[in-house]
Amino acid sequence: MTERRILVTAALPYANGHIHIGHLVEYIQTDIWVRFQKLQGHRCLFICADDTHGTAIMIRARREGRSEEQVIADMREAHIRDFAGFQIEFDNYGSTNSPENRALCHEIWSSIRKAGLVREKNVEQLFDPVAGTFLADRFVRGTCPKCGATDQPGDNCSRCGAAYSPADLIDPKSTLSGVTPEVRSAPHLFIELEQLHSFLNDWSQDGTHLQPEVANYLKGHFLCDVLRDWDVSRPAPYFGFEIPDCPGNYWYVWFDAPIGYMGSTREWCDRHGEDFDGWWRNPETEIHHFIGKDITYFHTLFWPGMLKTAGFNLPKKVHIHGFLTVGGEKMSKSKGTFVTAATFVKSLDPAALRYYYASKLGPGLDDIDLNLEEFIAKVNSDLVGKVVNLASRCARFVAGQTLPEVYPEDGGLFEFAASKAELLAASYEQCNFAAAMREIMLLADRANRFVDEKQPWVLRKQAGAEAELRDVCTITLNLFRQIVIYLAPVLPRLAQQTGELLNAPIRHWNESQSPLTGTLVGEFQHLMKRIEETQVQAMIEESKQEAAAEVVAGAAIPAEPTGPQFHAADTWKDSGNALSSEPLAGECTIDDFVKVDLRVARVIEAAHVAGADKLLQLTLSLGGGETRNVFAGIKAAYKPEDLIGRLVICVANLKPRQMKFGLSQGMVCASGSGGKEVFLLSPDAGSVPGQRVH
Ligand code: 2FM
Ligand code: ZN
Repeated sequence: MTERRILVTAALPYANGHIHIGHLVEYIQTDIWVRFQKLQGHRCLFICADDTHGTAIMIRARREGRSEEQVIADMREAHIRDFAGFQIEFDNYGSTNSPENRALCHEIWSSIRKAGLVREKNVEQLFDPVAGTFLADRFVRGTCPKCGATDQPGDNCSRCGAAYSPADLIDPKSTLSGVTPEVRSAPHLFIELEQLHSFLNDWSQDGTHLQPEVANYLKGHFLCDVLRDWDVSRPAPYFGFEIPDCPGNYWYVWFDAPIGYMGSTREWCDRHGEDFDGWWRNPETEIHHFIGKDITYFHTLFWPGMLKTAGFNLPKKVHIHGFLTVGGEKMSKSKGTFVTAATFVKSLDPAALRYYYASKLGPGLDDIDLNLEEFIAKVNSDLVGKVVNLASRCARFVAGQTLPEVYPEDGGLFEFAASKAELLAASYEQCNFAAAMREIMLLADRANRFVDEKQPWVLRKQAGAEAELRDVCTITLNLFRQIVIYLAPVLPRLAQQTGELLNAPIRHWNESQSPLTGTLVGEFQHLMKRIEETQVQAMIEESKQEAAAEVVAGAAIPAEPTGPQFHAADTWKDSGNALSSEPLAGECTIDDFVKVDLRVARVIEAAHVAGADKLLQLTLSLGGGETRNVFAGIKAAYKPEDLIGRLVICVANLKPRQMKFGLSQGMVCASGSGGKEVFLLSPDAGSVPGQRVH
């Protein structure tokens, strides 16, 4: 396999707040992906930093009577500690308030200037004469000009939904000082994004850099129209970098924040004697950004536009995930479900959250739900009951012994699990961790069935069964280790402990392909404990108390806005055209419908068909060893390699049909008019091959 050069970033957390379980979805997701790439032997850098600039930090510093630098230094320490607690391992954790970042901002700004993209315009904004600062919309409240509701924010009314500018509010008040703000005009610098329209259209719509729903959202909301100029400067006072050719003005935090990805890389390069351009101006390097859907706009329009203009590598992929809900609702401080990373680790094992999130994360933008009962049940049943149990039922019987030089006959168990490596790797690569976890747990089930059958605890008491006991333990420990290798990106500590137990550190994914022989087995140590409900309750209780203490300490300072929000509904550009071009078929009864046996299936092989222009040959797994060979007319719309591992819906009882190329034993369901306009159906995360579609 050729070694890839991959630079991965996770969004830079704001320095005005602590890391919580909502943030952790992204950092855990990204850390798993990075660890997977490293385990594959690729050259992979994981870069992050604190996002330190902007109004929120400035206000917090004033409120606390400290300098901004002190505020961000303390938060940095807390962030680094929290990430380490969850085994999130960055190659470099920088700061946007660094000399490296400032130098890169200058360089990129000068390219943008040179390209003729900057324009000055006057902006009218509310100014707080007591605080001596211009007020962003979120720092003004007043009466809605439309419905008269009082205490409404500066941009839109929470009662009637009207959108307005803060200057339209009746009786506006600054939330900083309580005084009535004045309207003042100041010159701002704008980047004319429209000049990059055609590039952004090509880049975002080429089908490789963005998930399809994101590409559609951009097309339907921004690219279908003239792109609006982007206001990138703020007049003093502002905590940030002063713009070199516009004294008294500062870059808006969202200008220097993504450049922080590069600033942090430069710190790493300087420390390791590496060439910065080798990472950011090298077509061989893949840049992957992981972000939440709330900051789509910045990362898929402004950021590629800036990189293109300054001649840097463009992102190979922006991986966008959904939000976290807890028990189906937004995290709530009063309900104790707004849990910080620091509070979580006091009561629970961080590895449990890593596994739970992995088991929920698919490749799409769906929100993921932390259901606390399911969390306890899943961790206890999968990790403790299935995985760790394998080692705990065998390791002590061979502790201090050397495993045989020849791996015993195991009825094909190791070989079978080894054959899953490619499928699992494809799932990790596509960020379909949920699919990978499901498949790995099936392997754990098989291994456990073996132990149940062989009963090593009985063999141990039988005279003359020593050799058999040793063989059973050798097989079980090898199956355990193979599973741990597959889980290593998710559970790095378990991987390390397993390496210590078996005297063979886990370093490469391919170690899953051959059993370990002749190794000395160490003393068995507890690998993972069951979660008790009381631990979860203690965490919720502590979060409630923290929230109560915060209310006493004073109102939270609103963070920087994240731009237009991505709503799934925004991507619905439904028109009646599809229906009118293909009118509804005549009525059928439920009995007619049930004759068609639709099943969830996984594509386990996909290939071109020699001599066929439109067809791909698919091998579909229905689970339990049942497969179907299907020829599907989807060649113009899908590449075989993109299909492997994904779930589809197949007509499983279609009468087999002999074609020129072979026997077709079913059909995959898709919508669309044919050619490139074909869209395969897939079930939501959680379904498994073989399930019937009702
Ligand atoms: O939304 C946020 O939390 C921002 N601090 C993310 C910045 S990501 C990048 F652009 F720096
Ligand atoms: Zn209103």
